[in-house]
Amino acid sequence: MKRIIGSTIQQISSIDSTNNYAAAQLLTKSLPEGFVVVANSQNVGRGQGQNAWESEPGKNLTFSVVLYPEFLEISKQFGLSKVISLGVLDFLLLLDVKASVKWPNDIYLGDKKVAGILIENSIRESKISSAIVGIGLNINQQIFTSNAPNPVSLSQYTDKTYSLEETLNQLCACLDDRYQQLIQKDFGSIDNDYLTNLYRFGLWSDYSDQEGDFEGRILGVDKIGQLEIEKRSGEIMKYQFKEVVFK
Ligand code: BTN
Repeated sequence: MKRIIGSTIQQISSIDSTNNYAAAQLLTKSLPEGFVVVANSQNVGRGQGQNAWESEPGKNLTFSVVLYPEFLEISKQFGLSKVISLGVLDFLLLLDVKASVKWPNDIYLGDKKVAGILIENSIRESKISSAIVGIGLNINQQIFTSNAPNPVSLSQYTDKTYSLEETLNQLCACLDDRYQQLIQKDFGSIDNDYLTNLYRFGLWSDYSDQEGDFEGRILGVDKIGQLEIEKRSGEIMKYQFKEVVFK
């Protein structure tokens, strides 16, 4: 099978955000599917919503991948988020590190966040015409200074130091395997792997929503990516991103 993700890799020393860079490039020219832009340093690294993404220059992986998942119906678009998260987990497993996915797509080591994913889709005729998949994976950073609640790096977790070039290549290969699984529409395995690696899946835990604090357990994720949580009362809730807080 022809490798898609990472077949072309562009290195940049300093940029505002690799997602912005990829989006700007796409406006003026066509980029091959799987094109990766990786930055040594981002001045305005962006996280989900209004959050910033902290990454010390030269210590971590901050990159974006350009994809054209036109084969994916809009109703299945959360599948892209799932396979990208699973690709990061597969890569960590290669290094003997067992991580989990905190819904929707944060990558956790224990109760700390080691990687974040920011997917920005362009929709045309109810298909995803292009997706810019931004990944920030904390590799060698030792001290975090922003107010992000619970960051951790791979190195802090394992006490090892990693080559950024090697980790990027391995990670791209893992992302590629999972993207191929999506192209094959192997939703059975994708959905099953996502759920078995979902942070707090099935465990009674503390959450809060607009009605207040509650105890609940995650039952799953529906087709459009909403999180399903059962409350102690038996009521089953569905949440979109930011509608429920993990306490
Ligand atoms: C999150 O909030 O969890 C998402 C973080 C995504 C960070 C990555 S780093 C590379 C790419 N460029 C950005 O500006 N953001 C993403």
